[in-house]
Amino acid sequence: MTRRPPVALRPLLPADVPVCAQIFRDAVETLTGDDYDPAQQEAWASSADDLDAFGARLTKALAIVATDEGEVVGFATLAGNETLDMLYVAPDMAGRGVATTLVDALEKLAGARGTKVLTVEASDTALPFFMDRGYAPQQRNTVHRAGQWLANTTMTKAIEPPAGGGGKPS
Ligand SMILES: CC(C)(COP(=O)(O)OP(=O)(O)OC[C@H]1O[C@@H](n2cnc3c(N)ncnc32)[C@H](O)[C@@H]1OP(=O)(O)O)[C@@H](O)C(=O)NCCC(=O)NCCS
Repeated sequence: MTRRPPVALRPLLPADVPVCAQIFRDAVETLTGDDYDPAQQEAWASSADDLDAFGARLTKALAIVATDEGEVVGFATLAGNETLDMLYVAPDMAGRGVATTLVDALEKLAGARGTKVLTVEASDTALPFFMDRGYAPQQRNTVHRAGQWLANTTMTKAIEPPAGGGGKPS
């Protein structure tokens, strides 16, 4: 039997927006139930309903997708070089290192662009993932989405400059 290859990464293409919207909705509905109640999950998931607005949020950031045998199975975005804005993984691929692969790549890209500190507003579901990666909690927030209040945590991590230099001169 052949070993399953690890997921591959590539930049997001405009044609990926609908599948990313579906992954967003599925991830929120399936993976966050221990941390958010159904009304909060639905309010959060509904941010992908307006595909134009959702696509604009993706394409104005640096967005990458993870693929498994050519199928998009997760995506992540870096906004303004210093904010890890979105990170969503298809539920049937959860716990298999897809988010790790995506965030490894965005941290490297941010470092290469001279970013010293990366910030993420981590959902309660993603908080242990970011803690494991060395992100430090800074403050708790409550954000309003579609009539619901959802908690998250601002977390930061110092980013190593790329080996051999690089990044913007200071
Ligand atoms: C959070 C999320 C992106 C993680 O994706 P993933 O591909 O399953 O993560 P990985 O497989 O790379 O996990 C890496 C490590 O984090 C741990 N981890 C991931 N999610 C976790 C959770 N909810 N609770 C505890 N640990 C978790 C894994 O156990 C794994 O540790 P290991 O390597 O020691 O086994 C995914 O659960 C998701 O899409 N959640 C819903 C949307 C969301 O909250 N997005 C974040 C917005 S900031």
